Amino acid sequence: MLAQLDQLYADSLAQLNQAESTAELETWYKAALGRKGSVYLMTRQVGQLSAEERPAFGKRINAVKQELETAYEQRLAELRSAELDALMASSAIDVTLPGRKQWHGRLHPATQTLREIYRIWGDMGFQVYRSRDVETDEYNFELLNIPQDHPARDMWDTFHTTTPGVILRTHTSPGQIHAMHEYYPEPIRVILPGMCYRYEQVTARAELQFHQVEGLAVGKNITMADLKGTLTDFARRMFGAHRQVRFRANYFPFTEPSAEMDVECILCNGDGCNVCKYTGWVEILGCGMVHPTVLRNGGYDPDVYSGFAFGMGPERIAMLKYRIDDIRYFWGNDLRFLAQF
Ligand code: PHE
Repeated sequence: MLAQLDQLYADSLAQLNQAESTAELETWYKAALGRKGSVYLMTRQVGQLSAEERPAFGKRINAVKQELETAYEQRLAELRSAELDALMASSAIDVTLPGRKQWHGRLHPATQTLREIYRIWGDMGFQVYRSRDVETDEYNFELLNIPQDHPARDMWDTFHTTTPGVILRTHTSPGQIHAMHEYYPEPIRVILPGMCYRYEQVTARAELQFHQVEGLAVGKNITMADLKGTLTDFARRMFGAHRQVRFRANYFPFTEPSAEMDVECILCNGDGCNVCKYTGWVEILGCGMVHPTVLRNGGYDPDVYSGFAFGMGPERIAMLKYRIDDIRYFWGNDLRFLAQF
C-alpha cells in the first residue's frame, strides 16, 4: 500500500507540472487534494491496514499531502506571474506607464479680463447691470441722441433682424437708458458689460462680435473732474500704479463734452513700440459727460442731475496686455490659443 501511495504521489506531481494555467491547476487541486480527491480516498484505505502498518502509512500520507501542497503553491505562483505578464503584454493598459495628464478647463481670456474689470469697478462702488443683446433702434440710437438720419450712425454698422426696428446692439450704451429708467430718481453707479455686434469686415482689428464694458454715474454735482479722476484711478488699478493717462477730445452723440482716454503703452512703458505705433500711448476707452438730452430721455432732469459715461473693449485691453496681434483669435476656438491663458 505504501508503494501505491508513492505511485499516487509521483502521478500527482507529474500532473501538477502539466497544468498550464491557474484554471487547470485548480482542477488538479480538486482531483488530488480536494475533499473527495485521490489523497483523501487513499486516507480512507488506512482501515485495511494492520495496526503495526498504520503509523508508517499515516506519516507517509501526511508527508505526501504536505509536499503536494507546497508544490501546488509554487506552481500557482509561477502560473500567476506568467499569466499577468501575458495580460500586460497583450492588453492596451500598461500599468507601468505614467498616468495621462488631466486637462483642466480654464477661463477664456476675455472672461478673465472681464472679471478683472468687474473687480476693479466693484472696489470703486460700481454694480454690474446687465441689459439685453437684442435691442430696438430706439434704445440703441434714438434715445442716445442719434436720430434716424444722423450721420453719426455711420459709426456703428448694424445687424438688423427681420422685425423692423429690432437690431443687435452695436454698443452697450443703450443699457444706460435702461439703467436710468430703473434707478430714477436714485443716483447711479453701474457698469454694463456685454456682447456687442457690428456688421463689419472682419480683420485683425475688428470682429463681428466683441465685449464692451460701459460705465455710468449719474447724480447731483458730478463733473468732468469726477470722470477724469475715476477713469485715471481705474487705469492705475488695471495697468499699474504709476501709469500715465491722457484724455483727448472726441465726439460721441450721447456725451458732451466727449473724450477718449489713452494709457501709457503697457508694453514699452511709453518708450514707443509697434503696438503703440511708436507714440507711447494706446487708446483704451471712449467717455464723456452724459448729454442733457440723454439724461432727459432716461428720466433725469439735466438741470438737477449730471453724469459721466464711458465704454471700453475688454478684448482690446487683453490684446494689449498679452500682445495678441489678431482679434479673430478670441472667437476662433483654437485650443492652441486658448490654452495659453
Ligand atoms: N458707445 C461708444 C462706442 O461704442 C463708447 C462710449 C460709451 C463713449 C459711453 C462714450 C460714453 O464707441
